[in-house]
Amino acid sequence: MSEGADDDGGAGAAARSRGGSPRGDGFSPSALGTREHWDAVYERELQTFQEYGDTGEIWFGEESMTRLIRWMQKHKIPLDASVLDIGTGNGVFLVELAKFGFSNITGIDYSPSAIQLSGNIIEKEGLSNIKLKDLNFLKSCGHPGSALEADLETV
Ligand SMILES: C[S@@+](CC[C@H](N)C(=O)[O-])C[C@H]1O[C@@H](n2cnc3c(N)ncnc32)[C@H](O)[C@@H]1O
Repeated sequence: MSEGADDDGGAGAAARSRGGSPRGDGFSPSALGTREHWDAVYERELQTFQEYGDTGEIWFGEESMTRLIRWMQKHKIPLDASVLDIGTGNGVFLVELAKFGFSNITGIDYSPSAIQLSGNIIEKEGLSNIKLKDLNFLKSCGHPGSALEADLETV
């Protein structure tokens, strides 16, 4: 399993630097903010998983998952609390949460290939009871009665 945002043959760095000049708010547009980018990334990662069993990149590194779980422990988040992983990617954080004992977890991602990949990885890990949904968080959260509100009790 590869780790870290730059362990992608330079594709991540290239995507981060693409974009152009800053807008009025000082931020430059980035390919990382487009669904096309993530669809392409996870189509490739899904194919790699199917061919070689490699679960792919953990964007913020293993350590970020450990830190989050430590934070949840410190703040005594109950193991049956509903937890929503927004932009779950390959779903490895869901796997970590489930292995730690969290029982009410959901991952959403707007890339269908990411959802397929995370489903495959969860199945390979022999875990059940993890909910996955192909959903655009930004589109859903602004609309009352959206799929997010209807299907997830978490927000
Ligand atoms: C940097 S990757 C992180 C993936 C994973 N959480 C990890 O740590 O490896 C960002 C993820 O967010 C997803 N994403 C970005 N914008 C989204 C949106 N508006 N709704 C749902 N998913 C989104 C992308 O498809 C991608 O899987």
